[in-house]
Amino acid sequence: MEKELNEEVLLPTDTFASEIDAGLSASPKAISSRYFYDAEGDRLFQKIMQLDEYYLSRAEYAIFKEHKELLLQYFADQRTAFHLMEFGAGDGWKTKVLLRHFIEQHAKFDYRPIDISGNVLQELESSLKTELPSLQVQGMEGEYFEVLNQMQKTDGQRKVVLFLGSNIGNFRQHQAISFLSSLRASLNQGDMVLIGFDMKKDPHVIRNAYDDASGVTRDFNMNLLKRLNIELGANFDLTKFKHYQSYDPQSGECRSYLISLAEQEVTMQAIGVSYYFKKWEPIHVEISRKFDFETINELAASSGFGVVKNLQDTDEYFTDSLWVAT
Ligand code: AVJ
Repeated sequence: MEKELNEEVLLPTDTFASEIDAGLSASPKAISSRYFYDAEGDRLFQKIMQLDEYYLSRAEYAIFKEHKELLLQYFADQRTAFHLMEFGAGDGWKTKVLLRHFIEQHAKFDYRPIDISGNVLQELESSLKTELPSLQVQGMEGEYFEVLNQMQKTDGQRKVVLFLGSNIGNFRQHQAISFLSSLRASLNQGDMVLIGFDMKKDPHVIRNAYDDASGVTRDFNMNLLKRLNIELGANFDLTKFKHYQSYDPQSGECRSYLISLAEQEVTMQAIGVSYYFKKWEPIHVEISRKFDFETINELAASSGFGVVKNLQDTDEYFTDSLWVAT
């Protein structure tokens, strides 16, 4: 049963190949950041979260430590049972702060992490089995949108959806609104979402978070090309590309590029196509948007939610915004 469900939601390789093909044939060239996360990409992202420069995870962890009681009060409002869902659960480092507290308080809930990486889900589930054996867990592998439809079939219990880590920053504003509107459509009035937003701040602090001194973020970005070499039979010469990061303090757009250091041609065996790169031509690989309260309010209002509470760390680097479906 579980197996069948997983197979249904997996992306076929030809979708991967054709999306990469479309992105490298386009002008300007672009590849979606969702393709960062193969096993090596997962490992490198774990390393990023340990970096001094990458403040995001630590800030959100601090928010949860500080406000776990308040969050439970809102989630369980008068001790109602609820489903705690999580999009892009990762290793659960931050979420476990909440889960542990909720278990200690005998809250009536179960935990349903959703991730595109089955690998990550399995590790999370097995660590939860040992660390919080009484927790009810049901992992769901797949694309958020596919799993959203599954959510509609669950019982009448209240849903609380976590979308942490400023993963929402990977969307432009109109994409975020359409994503959140779809989320809203699969929820009932009174259901809640908790969304992590990385805030606008000193531009140097932001730039450094995505261009760390030890080069882990560079490796994380370059791993995308390695992945294309391995999975699509491409022949990217990694010495002929470099990672470049920009941050625009007006739009709040932090962007990652892989820049071609030479005029070159790259062939992808899986589809039998070659791509021409000019010297200094960029491939846009990620957008990590930074937010302010106006943008957060606009997002909530345009997608059918009301802002209940904004929680911040002491540096005001990060906001977890609690919304209710209206
Ligand atoms: C996992 C999407 C939140 O954009 O900050 C980290 C990914 N990219 N360093 C982010 C990432 C480069 C991260 N998210």
